Parts: sequence; structure tokens; C-alpha cells
Amino acid sequence: MNIIKANDYNDMSRKAANIISAQVIVKPDCVLGLATGSSPLGLYSHLIKRYQKGDLDFSQVKSVNLDEYMGLTHENAQSYYYFMMENLFGQINILQENTNIPNGMAEDVEKACREYEQTIQSLGGIDLQLLGLGNNGHIGFNEPGTPFEQVTHCVSLTESTIQANSRFFDRLEDVPTKACTMGIKSIMMAKKIVVIVNGKGKADIVRKAFFGPVTTDVPASILQMHPDVTLVADAEALSLCDI
Ligand code: GLP
Repeated sequence: MNIIKANDYNDMSRKAANIISAQVIVKPDCVLGLATGSSPLGLYSHLIKRYQKGDLDFSQVKSVNLDEYMGLTHENAQSYYYFMMENLFGQINILQENTNIPNGMAEDVEKACREYEQTIQSLGGIDLQLLGLGNNGHIGFNEPGTPFEQVTHCVSLTESTIQANSRFFDRLEDVPTKACTMGIKSIMMAKKIVVIVNGKGKADIVRKAFFGPVTTDVPASILQMHPDVTLVADAEALSLCDI
């Protein structure tokens, strides 16, 4: 595992944006696995600036997002569809038809998950998967206890994730309780993985995930077994690691 230590959030965002930019430059028709949450916001704004300067071209890039809440429409400001349109897709020249996000309004959720997994395969797999890290070690919405061999599936969110994500909603009751997420296996099949983590609040889970035992209790711990993982974390997030 490659660990890149950043000074702060902006430095982490810039360093991670360098890795994604390099991927797009060397393989203009690459498949990017994208994430939501507060961690990638700075990185996305670096990518947008580079696109605006003419340094990056997303016209051939394809994307697959990690996850989506169940029950939120595209117009709902908390849906990950809306997040991606607002914070990245709407501001770069990626083609809408080349972007993929699980359908949170699907009537047959199991079928939608199966089809999403097939979409990833039909694109030839993911070249670079970007990940944030949940407070309890979840990746995508793969909560503690999720079997490592699962592909895209529907999940019930844990109380801790609902609490953590409630900061984006007016009321706790508005936070969806279910989501569709790429599975750990879907994530592990990506050729390259970049994890971004910042802040003191994640220091303990960073230590457990990247230096502790590999266990389904800490879903991100499986990343230690991936042949090409880069962790880009700020000094605070790495403060409990002996590096
Ligand atoms: C959510 C998302 C994850 C994300 C995590 C961390 O639960 N489903 O993909 O990595 O939150 O979010 P943040 O970056 O806001 O800490």
C-alpha cells in the first residue's frame, strides 16, 4: 500500500486530484469509480479547475458511482445523483450517457443492483476507484459485517451511518435507511484504488482499517489485500498511525 501524507484537506484534495488527472491523461477513455460525501468535494473542485484551464478532457471518460440512497429522486438535493451533477458532472465535459449511478428509485431493487453490476462489467471494469472512509470503516455503503465477496446489493444503513449522514438532512427522519451500493468485491476488482481521508475524527478508523487485522468488522481493512491501493490522508487522519 502506498501512503501519501498530506498537510491538510486542501493538500489531500490536490494530491488525490493529481492521481486522477494522471489516470485521465494516460487513458482518456478510462472508467473512473467515483464517490460522494464531504471527502471528495475539494478533489472534485480541483478537477473542475483543471478542466476549465484546458488541462483535462473528460469527453471519453466513463464513470460508475459507488452508491445511492434508496427512495430519493434525482431532484432531491441529498441524492447522490444530484450531488454528482452539482459537484462534478455539471461542470466538466463528461457525457451524461457515460455516467452511471445506481437507480435509487428502482421498483425492483434486486434487479437494479444486478444490472448495475453488469454495467460495471460491460465497461470492462474500473480503472481507478475513488473511496472515502466511513466513520465505522464502511466503504461505499458496505457496513461492518458485510461479506467481502458481495457485489452490488441493497443494504440497510447502520444507526451510526444514519447519524453521520443526518448532517446533510433537515431532520433525522429524512435520512434514508436503505441504499444500493457496489459490493466489496466490486470495489476490490478495480485495477487501482485511491482512498482519501482527512480529519482527527477519522484517525482511529484509519489506524484500524490500514494497520489492523483484516476483518469484516472493518470493511475497509480488506483494502490492505489489494495490489494497488493509495491512501491519501492528511496529518490529522494519520496521527494515530506509526508512519
Ligand atoms: C457515506 C458514503 C461513503 C462515504 C462516507 C464518508 O456514507 N456512502 O461513500 O465515503 O459517507 O463520508 P464523508 O466523506 O462525508 O466523511
